[in-house]
Amino acid sequence: MQAKIKISTQTKKSFINPYLHGHFIEFLGTCISDGIWVGEDSAIPNTGGMRKDVIDALKKLAPPVIRWPGGCYADRYHWRDGVGPRAQRPVTYNNNFGTKTVEKNHFGTHEFMQLCKLTNAQPWLNINMMTGSPAEMYEWAEYCNRAEPTALAALRAENGSPASFDVKYWGVGNESWAGGGNYTAQGYVDAYRRYATAFPFQGGPERENSPCLIAVGPDGNKPEERVKWTKDFFAALCQYRMPPLHGYDLHFYNWNIANPEDNVTVFDEDAWYDVISGSRELESVLLEQYDLIQDGMRATPSEPSPFGDFPPPECKLIVGEWGNWHRPQPDAPGALFQQCTMRDAITTALTLDIFHANSDKVYMACVAQSVNVLNSLILTFDDKTVLTPNYHVFEMYQPHRNADALLCETDAPVLKTKATGNVNAVHAFASQKGKEIYVNLINPSIDAECTANIQLDAQAAFSKGVLLGGLDGKAHNTPENPDAVHPVQAPPLIHSGGGWQVTLPKASVSVYHLHMEQ
Ligand code: AHR
Repeated sequence: MQAKIKISTQTKKSFINPYLHGHFIEFLGTCISDGIWVGEDSAIPNTGGMRKDVIDALKKLAPPVIRWPGGCYADRYHWRDGVGPRAQRPVTYNNNFGTKTVEKNHFGTHEFMQLCKLTNAQPWLNINMMTGSPAEMYEWAEYCNRAEPTALAALRAENGSPASFDVKYWGVGNESWAGGGNYTAQGYVDAYRRYATAFPFQGGPERENSPCLIAVGPDGNKPEERVKWTKDFFAALCQYRMPPLHGYDLHFYNWNIANPEDNVTVFDEDAWYDVISGSRELESVLLEQYDLIQDGMRATPSEPSPFGDFPPPECKLIVGEWGNWHRPQPDAPGALFQQCTMRDAITTALTLDIFHANSDKVYMACVAQSVNVLNSLILTFDDKTVLTPNYHVFEMYQPHRNADALLCETDAPVLKTKATGNVNAVHAFASQKGKEIYVNLINPSIDAECTANIQLDAQAAFSKGVLLGGLDGKAHNTPENPDAVHPVQAPPLIHSGGGWQVTLPKASVSVYHLHMEQ
């Protein structure tokens, strides 16, 4: 098979916001308890109670943003349970997605901020809009961000942090159309108005530096409902004056629960392509939702501000949760714990490239979730930690952060035609940062290699290539074999008269680096 890829350095499409490589962690299964938090007295080596090996792995990935404490858990979470001396924190019960454990609340606001500090991530706090109240949200925001010496700032200092946490991203509710309250869009907007208006540090002369309030976007997996939710959301918003609104959080899971023969690490060829094609659907959802947001924002009322002239408000499209959601494994050590094979690495790469290619439309995206839940980057097994193939994709894709997406046209044979989207022999993406060009080449074939011919409209020298895959599609890492899937040096790109040539192994993700000569 042969594919042709044409890359134009003359056409810079958009800036790739590092936030597209964001993370999400939740009190669900063993994501936080065991996966991140083991406590200072644990025999597992830890940094202030957080697993050292997990922190070290996260540090290498440098997550630009981490969303916490949920997910669905956020809508039952009371922040005061997680601050103050740990021994005195209340023990609550966690039944989030069948977690079924007591929660000691030893990992709370300060521990989360420490995680963000250690990994150099921006925190995204999601507030409780179901069992909480605007007052509780107000106090959490004051506790986190108030620099002036108020009682809440003093409490924060007493609990170890005199300096404000300065949290910029605040989610107002989570999946409010389902586990977050089964709201209608109208009902949600009515509630959102109160929360957003009550949120401190908004409006007035500080408007430009105000924290970013993120509203609940639709269920990306429900074609009719998601259009209705977004149209109804903006229609309700337009009825009267606008509350502060900066982001709109769409969730998209690549569901793979219908096929009983597909057991995450054991599946046939058809199941391989079903899942890969399923991940492709996200692109059309993003385009649809982006347009609906623009239409909605155009219709919102605007009034001159007594504090000066500000640009018209923008509402950014955010994907707060994404990933593959397979059938639960009977022997899974925690709720929603899944192994991740090369199939998940291919869909992770395809998804990140959808975000890269649409970086003019999507502002931020968070993989669900970083550790031990769904499309994980890291899995823990008692005292052992395993990096999944997905982790390696995130690592290999780091150079794209802060680069410009380039126009990249691919002509490749169709491997499979599926309702959710075609799977082609090669999916390509390219970006440029200064004189460096980075080219991603994904071969999603389960069994065939493919030759790629790359036409680049600039003189460049090949620097290096990194390859993940070329293995059995079911390959994955385990405590016994933690390096079964790991990045290796890719075969070099060879320049001949008609461009750059390379043969891509089956089931692989490659990133090539080129250096422009002028
Ligand atoms: O990521 C797991 C769960 O999926 C989250 O808690 C929820 O928001 C979504 O339904």
